[in-house]
Amino acid sequence: MDLKGKDIITLEDVSKEDIEFILENAEIFEEKLKKGPLKVLEGKILATIFLEPSTRTRLSFESAMHKLGGRVLTVSKDEMTSLAKGENLSDMARVIEGYCDVIAIRTPIEGAPKMIADMVSVPVINGGDGAHAHPTQPFLDLYTLKKEFGKLEGLKVAIIGDLKYGRTVHSLAYALAMMGTEMVFVSPRELRMPDSIIKVLKNKFGVEVEEKTKIEDIISEVDVLYMTRIQRERFPHESEYKKMKNVYRLDSKLMKNSKEGMKILHPLPRIDEIAPELDATKHACYFSQAHNGVPVRMAILAGVLGKI
Ligand code: CP
Repeated sequence: MDLKGKDIITLEDVSKEDIEFILENAEIFEEKLKKGPLKVLEGKILATIFLEPSTRTRLSFESAMHKLGGRVLTVSKDEMTSLAKGENLSDMARVIEGYCDVIAIRTPIEGAPKMIADMVSVPVINGGDGAHAHPTQPFLDLYTLKKEFGKLEGLKVAIIGDLKYGRTVHSLAYALAMMGTEMVFVSPRELRMPDSIIKVLKNKFGVEVEEKTKIEDIISEVDVLYMTRIQRERFPHESEYKKMKNVYRLDSKLMKNSKEGMKILHPLPRIDEIAPELDATKHACYFSQAHNGVPVRMAILAGVLGKI
């Protein structure tokens, strides 16, 4: 498998074999890390350009780079760059490519990572562009599922919440389809998975996905509840967000009907959709899922830099 020089902009840029390769190498890196930091990317520089808030994606990319012996340049506020003086993102990216070996970027502008990838010679990794895509999140979601269940094929995953604006679930749906994992979508009608994605799932992967509006209708039959927050920042009007914000809340009462061994994942941040009383239960995987971002992003960085 050769990921060297590859941009990762959407899940459509990767194959099932790429996913398996990254997951295998993430496992190897996680094991090797137990003995201490590595030198695989010594002399290499990652630039993280994050023009929207992030805790997990930016810091796990940066941690991954440090643990591989590389270095990091970071932009986390556009006001601290010459974007504030009117420079455009393309010019900024063209300059930054001369300072680094790989770029990870998050931007509110859908399509901007692709535009930059077409312009610069270093690999570009999309860390989330508006409501469009977040293609590295599913790698750590799948890695977590594999660790928990030992397999991906044959599982049934309910993806719950804001499926319209949630970029993580757009990418996750493609990844699960590629890996042969069954899905059911649970959302209010107003926040359904976009038809464009449902069409690709059907036409490209032959996957027909059930759609429901209530967690109660699926909780006894799924292996995984993949919860997501309502994406406040994407709603055109705050009043529409307020109508939706408390639509789902998973608590111990609701969990009483869950399937034996069922796991809860969430890309985080969580708002109110998972009651904290569930955090210490055997179902909760969301914090280990976030931690899995480090070995997974180590594998992605080492892959696109041609070191695995
Ligand atoms: N899961 C995720 O994308 O989290 P951040 O927004 O904190 O990066």
